[in-house]
Amino acid sequence: MEYYRQPLDVTQLNAWKALADHRQEMQTFTMRNAFAADPERFKQFSLDTCGLFLDYSKNLISRQTRSLLTSLAREAGLEGAIRALLDGEPVNSSEGRPALHTALRRPVGDKVLVNGIDVMPEVHGVLSKLTELVNRIHRGLWQGFTGRAITDVVNIGIGGSFLGPQQVAEALLPYSQPNVRCHYLANIDGSEFYELIAKLQAETTLFIVSSKSFGTLETLKNAQAARAWCLGQGCPEQDLHKHFIAVSSNVKYAVEFGIHEDNIFPMWDWVGGRYSLWSAIGLPVALAIGMSNFKDLLAGAYSMDQHFLNAPFESNMPVLLGLLGVWYGNFWNAQSHAVLTYDHYLRDFTKHLQQMDMESNGKRVRQDGSPVSLATGPVIWGGVGTNGQHAYHQLLHQGTLLIPCDFIVPVVSHHPIEDHHQWLYANCLSQSQALMLGKTQEEAEAELRAKGLSEEQVATLAPHKVIPGNRPSNTLVFERVTPSSLGALVALYEHKVFVQSVIWGINAFDQWGVELGKELGKDVYQHLIGAAEGKATDGSTQGLVEYFRRHHRG
Ligand code: F6P
Repeated sequence: MEYYRQPLDVTQLNAWKALADHRQEMQTFTMRNAFAADPERFKQFSLDTCGLFLDYSKNLISRQTRSLLTSLAREAGLEGAIRALLDGEPVNSSEGRPALHTALRRPVGDKVLVNGIDVMPEVHGVLSKLTELVNRIHRGLWQGFTGRAITDVVNIGIGGSFLGPQQVAEALLPYSQPNVRCHYLANIDGSEFYELIAKLQAETTLFIVSSKSFGTLETLKNAQAARAWCLGQGCPEQDLHKHFIAVSSNVKYAVEFGIHEDNIFPMWDWVGGRYSLWSAIGLPVALAIGMSNFKDLLAGAYSMDQHFLNAPFESNMPVLLGLLGVWYGNFWNAQSHAVLTYDHYLRDFTKHLQQMDMESNGKRVRQDGSPVSLATGPVIWGGVGTNGQHAYHQLLHQGTLLIPCDFIVPVVSHHPIEDHHQWLYANCLSQSQALMLGKTQEEAEAELRAKGLSEEQVATLAPHKVIPGNRPSNTLVFERVTPSSLGALVALYEHKVFVQSVIWGINAFDQWGVELGKELGKDVYQHLIGAAEGKATDGSTQGLVEYFRRHHRG
């Protein structure tokens, strides 16, 4: 039966048991020795595809490890799962849906059936509609209620209707078109709204209400506030349609909100929010960088999709990254994974990866509803280098936790100054090197003696300077951050997450865990405004509600 209906218990597979035995053998493995023993190690454990170069040689793996991991992937049915994903089978079993973000970047002429209907004509139809809108706005042909051309676009959305587009637009800032500024409004905190509208004029601002469900509280409240602001700024009711468009799979709700049907860009329930930047949810990106660059972004992702589908697991970049995460999470007890981006434009890229990974694999039951018997999604965190070196790298080097790291760095800077990029790149490589090499007691002592310290001082200080090393990292390099390389990079991580979900037997495409908080929030809100009967369900919430009611103003 299909993996998404009856997932295997991977811990019962021969390959899993072989990995568990192998893990014992690897207890004494050191990367220092592995490199000393094999001059070909870098070549053996690196991969070049889709414009990305992956060095995964600084890992706690041997050729046998890789062989056992790829055997596990085969025994777990990953080959069939990849085809099921790309062919539009209902891999999202709890919602009975496909997860067809890959369809959004397939070329004209491809066919993808959902419930027997080829969805590609509609996918490309929306892309054409996006192109028209982007061109109209870029040419100043979309005018507001005073007849002035739109100069500012505000994307109102949260989660996947915010993070993906915002991060991609930020990463591709060097490709921004001059004639329109894009902004993002996500949180329900009024201060975010206040700070944003201070930069805007209602007559030249277009709001994109981006919400797959068109039922997300933050987005609807912000859209209502934007509507009220426009009216307050003199926009006649009958001209509001000049300042609001929507992207949603729920056209009915969008129309009921007051969005003109011609201004609604559809998306589909077979695209998950955190995987939707390739759809009309990516409209702010297309407005920022232009349709040609947006199509290059899609093409970059498509190239990674083809690699993922066709490359043998031993040289399949998403498969290898996914399996390395399984190796560390399930056999080395690593519970978090750091993504460290050495590029200003990728400084917050990890935020998109956090939702993509943690909302996909932060699960405790398998596709068939049975409880998992192993660790699943890790905590994804990180940030920009070199800043992190002056913030949290201490823990990476001398803490007691094993935290595998992905270092991501372009070779060419968009804005080179002197030798700055050489230093940025050198720091990226040296951090990965330091994690691997560490510093032995002997090396620490010798270093201190060379500085002229006494034996007593050496004995006192040396233990504090020892760095265990043998800590794993991947390094992803590429020529520069372009629409194509970024598309491949995002798709790489989407597929890495999918690989892990298949091994763990979980559904990467639902997110039932976020519903409870939303429901409880409605009851707390009623208590805060004094509209609820009786007390809150627990003493803590009741106490905090009372504090709010005593101190709140405004
Ligand atoms: O956090 C839950 C969630 O549904 C995410 O999966 C989604 O990206 C976000 O909220 C926004 O949802 P919508 O696009 O439907 O407003």
